[in-house]
Amino acid sequence: MCGIIGIIGTSEVTERLVDGLKRLEYRGYDSSGIAVLKGGVLNRARAEGKIKALEARLAEKHVDGSIGIAHTRWATHGVPNKTNAHPHISGRAAVVHNGIIENFIELREALSKTRKFETETDTEVIAHLVDDALNAGLSPIDAFSQSLKKLRGAYALSLIIDGQDDTMFIARSGSPLAIGLGEGETYAGSDAMALAQLSNRLIYLEEGDWAVLTKDSYHIFDENDVPAERPISIISGGPAMAEKGNYRHFMLKEIYEQPETIGRTLSNYIDEFRVKADLPDALSFSHIDRIIIVACGTASYAAMVAKYWFEQYAGLAVDIDIASEFRYRKPVLMKNSLFIAVSQSGETADTLAALRYCKQAGIKTAALVNVMTSTMAREADIALPINAGPEIGVASTKAFTSQLTALAALTLAAGRARKTLNADMETELAQALIQTPRLVSEALKLDPKIEAMSDDLSKHSSAFYLGRGPHVPIAFEGALKLKEISYIHAEGYAAGELKHGPIALIEDGTPVIVIAPMDELFEKTISNLQEVASRGAHILLITDKEGAAFAEAFAHELLILPTSHAFTAPIIMSIAMQLLAYHAAVHLGTDVDQPRNLAKSVTVE
Ligand code: G6P
Repeated sequence: MCGIIGIIGTSEVTERLVDGLKRLEYRGYDSSGIAVLKGGVLNRARAEGKIKALEARLAEKHVDGSIGIAHTRWATHGVPNKTNAHPHISGRAAVVHNGIIENFIELREALSKTRKFETETDTEVIAHLVDDALNAGLSPIDAFSQSLKKLRGAYALSLIIDGQDDTMFIARSGSPLAIGLGEGETYAGSDAMALAQLSNRLIYLEEGDWAVLTKDSYHIFDENDVPAERPISIISGGPAMAEKGNYRHFMLKEIYEQPETIGRTLSNYIDEFRVKADLPDALSFSHIDRIIIVACGTASYAAMVAKYWFEQYAGLAVDIDIASEFRYRKPVLMKNSLFIAVSQSGETADTLAALRYCKQAGIKTAALVNVMTSTMAREADIALPINAGPEIGVASTKAFTSQLTALAALTLAAGRARKTLNADMETELAQALIQTPRLVSEALKLDPKIEAMSDDLSKHSSAFYLGRGPHVPIAFEGALKLKEISYIHAEGYAAGELKHGPIALIEDGTPVIVIAPMDELFEKTISNLQEVASRGAHILLITDKEGAAFAEAFAHELLILPTSHAFTAPIIMSIAMQLLAYHAAVHLGTDVDQPRNLAKSVTVE
């Protein structure tokens, strides 16, 4: 969601704040703004649209200072325009906020008796509360901490006060926030990415924490206002990881990184010498009767593929749910279950709430995440990394294939522990996983062919993606990718289910992408392909060599991906889904890395 950065030091901060905002733009890009203090005087610059609009505004009229806060917005309350852009100022207080203040209407009504509101946002109440408290004679620290007590909802916020250019106030409840430590400077940021150029020594605030920062000190308090110590994390990776290199888009760079990123995931979970799954000791499947996997968006499709794997290879019952439904459904939880949250960011609000729900119910929890400093990684009993490196493109690609890879390795460990896989079978499947990076490299060589195919796809307003078995979620993911970045309407469907309704939508020329590598369901999928072909659909068959030999005649266009073991085929098929959507979007000229209305990390429910 929204991104926050703050700097308090001695030299000017505007340029570095704007640079930090660019790194955070993946969290939201409806509008942006900064507020700075120079000689104790508050100045602000804001603009609707992307960060470059803010830069243009600053070029016209520069504001600077030795302390400042900045924000890039993903609108929740109030349309994206300059007035609703953060920072919000009331009297002496300027604030940036990520999250939702749930009781803002009530607070706004009370404050409106004496104060004038300028925006439609929930955030503005925070500035009014603090300013009101300052006017009542409270010290800045008391005005801030007492205002926090009145807020309900989720927030990460950073606040500065006119006349007070040696202090910044920050707080976290529900949305992540970190302090960065510098030499004679202190920073605040939504995540390590925001502070990548500034510091690799971060302190993550815990739920309910708030802090007072000066240029060379920080004081953290917990939710009961008791001084608290939080560990310093040293962040590796550095700023270079967030650069596009020679690629036109981050998404393309991330698609091409997959042989390496899948390899990195594998090295964590597969012992390539013994050709066996190699999992953290804390994760044991021997006493588990059921797995609950909860996620949102692309991560939920990785979870759905894993359900097929755990059931087939480990004989383990799996419940899959999207987090926004799970958390409010009062799910019945069985003892001896293992809960797994799957999340690239480790911060998605609904997934985090589902994890907390299960933890509170005494269920063992694991978090499969890309960001190991994230809230989920810190709160779950077991944190499982995917090691895909920073993913900047809003549409997830390399995180998806790494999630699949890690879940596949967990399946092997579960199969071994539950004795559904003997040693030979485990070796065969581990071998298939070890070959995945090479097969993904081969699949990437089909890029020019996929680009040519996407040209025709981009001319349609609607498309279907069909698959069976573990390729049903891959069809969902293919359709999601196309929707997200090209804005073409697409539906993923179980091939056998289409005739129960959606087949009515098939007309002459409707593109239908059929994902069907040769496996035990192949013939059934090809029958479904013929059902739509005979009703005029334009068929794009994505298969392997053996499948092509059998079904070439039934397709208008054919894409032959490298032959893999049936176990790992969903990972290979994903590459075609990603490239097809990417090129269709490029043909249409959309903003691939920052598609409209979307945000990378959804920290509101
Ligand atoms: C957003 C992103 C998706 C992502 C989903 C879940 O909707 O745009 O790409 O799949 O959130 O995010 P997570 O970080 O939990 O995997």
